Amino acid sequence: MKLKKTQVCIVGSGPSGLLLSQLLHNAGISSIIVDRQSRERIQARVRAGVLEWGSVDALDEAGVGRRMHRDGLPHDGFDLIFDDDLHRIDVKALTGKQVMVYGQTELTIELIARRLEQGCEIIFSAQDVQPIDVESDRPKVRYTKIGEMVEIECDYVAGCDGFHGAARQAIPSRVLKTFERIYPFGWLGVLVEQPPVSDELIYASHERGFALCSMRSQTRSRYYVQCPLSDTVEDWSDQRFWDELALRVGADVAGKLRTGDSIEKSIAPLRSFVAEPMRYGNLFLAGDAAHIVPPTGAKGLNLAISDIRILWRALIEHYKKANDTWLDRYSEICLKRVWKVERFSWFMSTMLHQFPEFSGFEKRMQRAEFDHIVGSETASRSLAENYVGLPLEM
Ligand code: FAD
Ligand code: PHB
Repeated sequence: MKLKKTQVCIVGSGPSGLLLSQLLHNAGISSIIVDRQSRERIQARVRAGVLEWGSVDALDEAGVGRRMHRDGLPHDGFDLIFDDDLHRIDVKALTGKQVMVYGQTELTIELIARRLEQGCEIIFSAQDVQPIDVESDRPKVRYTKIGEMVEIECDYVAGCDGFHGAARQAIPSRVLKTFERIYPFGWLGVLVEQPPVSDELIYASHERGFALCSMRSQTRSRYYVQCPLSDTVEDWSDQRFWDELALRVGADVAGKLRTGDSIEKSIAPLRSFVAEPMRYGNLFLAGDAAHIVPPTGAKGLNLAISDIRILWRALIEHYKKANDTWLDRYSEICLKRVWKVERFSWFMSTMLHQFPEFSGFEKRMQRAEFDHIVGSETASRSLAENYVGLPLEM
């Protein structure tokens, strides 16, 4: 068996793990990252597209914002369409802030390249990754690579390995409480090399189901439609997708839609999930490893970034000032914000999707939510405040 040592061992090379590693490096703290996937697989995943300005600031602070500012698209607002009625949420006017439309894929590619350039060890394609002895003051991460077992000894383990990862499993079931809601539908997403249908995002609720028009650049668009969980991508030819999207967004938007061959097509289930606590011994969970939100509020990546900012601050206090108060309060501080963001994502999802179990009453409630937002600046501002990101209270 081979042994390695580092200060913080990070499980998962997604945005959470990579950003944490970058921030620690900037402060002179060492880390090793272990991921079960290959670099190619990680860099090919198409995920989030909207960054809160707090996330933009965090990436700038970490020194990884150059490409984001060059290629990202700052947005001042977005449209809500409800049964063909359109209402623009002027996020900038309501909150004074913008959001940045920028692909998680590009962010991940840049973070991996930067970390490797700076000499960070990222172990890709590791098998049987497992945090062990996390209750002790010498926790380890064990994995196998090309038939050889390796143990990385460290001060702390950061579990940044997403919802299906191994880190959360290392917390005994007598300690871990989980809260979950599984939605009875998924999102079918299509990426296409065509200019977006509008300058801003469009969230549409229609009796045939939810639809979202988003983008990655001026020439690349990302679209989603709500679909049954039993559907597979094979059920959806490009033509069927475009026809369905056109019906759901209404004639005005559909008339401007530039369609084409899809360059990526995938189905994602929708889930709300929270694990408590986010710390066990010297293991700290962050990002999707600890919580999942349905993508309707564009919050998952942003929540992952805010966890990392809190964890980073706590680790800095430990290493630079021998102060463990922040580490002790990590779970409590994160969860307070997590639940507010869970609420917003659940609210947006409930308002905008078709639920098979909803009767006439719930459908009228959905319409009333929309009408309330249209009719009340206060309601619109509340929505906008959540969309641009709640303040990070540390
Ligand atoms: P992940 O990105 O899941 O990374 C975890 C890493 O851990 C992966 O590299 C994985 O290979 C690795 N791993 C897994 N298991 C193991 C193991 N056992 N051992 C070692 N490594 C392991 N969020 C937003 O903020 N805005 C949006 O607009 C948005 N849109 C979305 C649209 C869709 C369709 C989806 C699916 C998600 C969207 N999200 C959005 C959510 C966002 O993508 C996630 O919240 C984000 O990826 C979380 O980052 P993470 O680093 O915590 O986890
Ligand atoms: C995306 O562009 O992938 C995207 C944008 C907004 C969301 C979810 C996903 O709410």
